[in-house]
Amino acid sequence: SDDELHARIRVAREELGERVVILGHFYQRDEVVQHADYVGDSFQLARAATEHPNAEAIVFCGVHFMAETADLLSGPDQEVVLPHLGAGCSMADMASIDEVEDCWEQLEDILGPLDEPDADGLAPVIPVTYMNSSAAIKGFVGRNGGIVCTSSNARTVLEWAFARGRRVLFFPDQHLGRNTAKAMGVPLTSMPMWNPRQPLGGSSASELVGSRVILWHGFCSVHRRFTTAQIDKARAEHPGVRVIVHPECPMPVVDAADEWGSTDVIRRAIEGATEPQTFAIGTEINLVQRLAAQHPQHTIFCLDPVVCPCSTMYRIHPAYLAWVLERLVAGETVNQITVSDDVAAPARLALDRMLAATP
Ligand code: 13P
Ligand code: SF4
Repeated sequence: SDDELHARIRVAREELGERVVILGHFYQRDEVVQHADYVGDSFQLARAATEHPNAEAIVFCGVHFMAETADLLSGPDQEVVLPHLGAGCSMADMASIDEVEDCWEQLEDILGPLDEPDADGLAPVIPVTYMNSSAAIKGFVGRNGGIVCTSSNARTVLEWAFARGRRVLFFPDQHLGRNTAKAMGVPLTSMPMWNPRQPLGGSSASELVGSRVILWHGFCSVHRRFTTAQIDKARAEHPGVRVIVHPECPMPVVDAADEWGSTDVIRRAIEGATEPQTFAIGTEINLVQRLAAQHPQHTIFCLDPVVCPCSTMYRIHPAYLAWVLERLVAGETVNQITVSDDVAAPARLALDRMLAATP
């Protein structure tokens, strides 16, 4: 039964004590979140992975790229465990290292050597990858003078990149890239999209030369379900509603919302509301339902009427958490996530640049 499962997790957790730390992303189901020592957005969890040097194991209740990042940022003797190896991210899978390297070569053919700054000291292109990408991609970025961002620091990171380069190649999420660059005043006409299945990504050479941000053709299947029609309906049915959406939503949705930001920005907006209010939220359902339960004084609902969990986040079931913890008690590490040494050094560089650039 569920009760037995939770009891097993508690017993194993107690046994392991300080030897283990459990990190949980906001999108995890409540049955998992209740066991986490630390719950946060992807940036906060990356930082948290650096802040528990005494834990022998970090059990990461999230998705694969987050566990890889924790492995990169944690100490050399710390092990990172992902309770279900099938917990990936469909958006991260939309940019493979081969496709990104091929893109880079094609850009070099058009723009000239990408490792040579111009007379102003600016590189032709700075690669910026969203945290939601493989360690191999982060390694590519690190090797080529680039940086990682999350949804909470994308603007700061783009400013970092524009201080060093003429253009940004942003992957894998076109929406985070477009929404952030647009808010910074970059014209939409200078943001061509790169579709890895087409020559030159589907753009013309002159579009790429004149670009400021080249957007990779990736998206989140959960967040692209949100529409402006849902926002219109929420406003019609709930006068005075505050609409807050995640920047992985398409641009028209972000434009029609009152506010937008990372999962933690959404959480803080609700926690900061002193008077009872109605909130319509455009992000993953587990977080929305938890916020609704934690703040009964407010009316909080998801913009999408059809429940939309992130199916891969949802793979972390308490049964897997119980299993990995019990194996740790028995002295065996299962489902360990490790990044190979050749990728780890440049990937760490790209992550360290992000941590240093983010206040
Ligand atoms: P944040 O936690 O950075 O808001 O990202 C959400 C997300 O989609 C993680 O996959
Ligand atoms: Fe990936 Fe979207 Fe799930 Fe986040 S919510 S892990 S971006 S599929």
